[in-house]
Amino acid sequence: MRAWDDHRLRLVDKEVRGERGLLVFDAPSLVEALSPGQFLNLEVPGRLLRRPMAPAVMGGRLLVFVRGRGPGTRGLLALPEGAVLRALGPLGNAFPEPRGRALLVSGGTGVGPLLFLARRLVAAGRETVLFHGARDASEGFLLPYLRATGAEVRFFTEDGSLGERGFPTEMLPFSLRPGDTVYAVGPEPLMRAAARAAATMALPAYVSLEAHMACGVGSCLSCRVELKSGPVHVCQDGPVFPAEEVFFAETPHVR
Ligand SMILES: Cc1cc2nc3c(=O)[nH]c(=O)nc-3n(C[C@H](O)[C@H](O)[C@H](O)COP(=O)(O)OP(=O)(O)OC[C@H]3O[C@@H](n4cnc5c(N)ncnc54)[C@H](O)[C@@H]3O)c2cc1C
Ligand code: FES
Repeated sequence: MRAWDDHRLRLVDKEVRGERGLLVFDAPSLVEALSPGQFLNLEVPGRLLRRPMAPAVMGGRLLVFVRGRGPGTRGLLALPEGAVLRALGPLGNAFPEPRGRALLVSGGTGVGPLLFLARRLVAAGRETVLFHGARDASEGFLLPYLRATGAEVRFFTEDGSLGERGFPTEMLPFSLRPGDTVYAVGPEPLMRAAARAAATMALPAYVSLEAHMACGVGSCLSCRVELKSGPVHVCQDGPVFPAEEVFFAETPHVR
């Protein structure tokens, strides 16, 4: 039996800062169904293909953090309040339960699924620490949402203009303890560094992979990636995978 459906979302609020923004949707049929880590294939008016987005659920609303990368994401950021969109979901898998304490590391638009996970874990009484890495203080509008999860929040900016200076992955190794579970979503260097920190202490770690997607439901094969155990389709087998399964590209900087 299929778990997803085509839902109707109404944009009720938005906050856009340059090429980044937060879209808040009223989506009563989806908020109950979605689990942290799962994604939606979201309609963009005037575009044939939908775009995958991993939202958070907070206060009965759907929160989508968007980075304008191309016509689809910029089209989403330009939507007027009141716009109604279709969204296929919930799609993909969810984050597994942590073993003990949960250490969450987000960067960029990875904040959506991890904010959602932090909220669920705190509500279930699990000790949760949420590290977020931002370029500068322009992402400060995220702080109230991060704090509203109830998790211990550590906010980093590359230029030190807000919170702690540097990358969250630089401090992560000093915060890890035996029994922790690590979750990382964001740019690949951030996920790679978090995965390495976890592996050094033999801790379980999970990441959420991005891939180009069309259908979002396993039919078009456009999201195929090679893992250490063989090929998978990110939309159906993921997007959440054990970090030890992933081939990370070697890029010079840590983020
Ligand atoms: C499971 C999942 C969840 C996601 N959640 C979010 C989210 O919450 N917020 C958000 O802003 N974005 C998210 N993304 C990424 C988002 O879907 C893409 O940025 C978007 O589809 C790009 O469409 P576009 O028309 O704006 O840009 P395009 O013109 O299609 O692409 C712009 C540039 O980005 C690259 N690109 C596009 N899509 C991807 C991709 N999936 N992976 C890697 N590079 C890509 C292209 O190669 C190109 O260089 C998610 C992706 C996945 C797979
Ligand atoms: S997006 Fe079509 S198979 Fe994954």
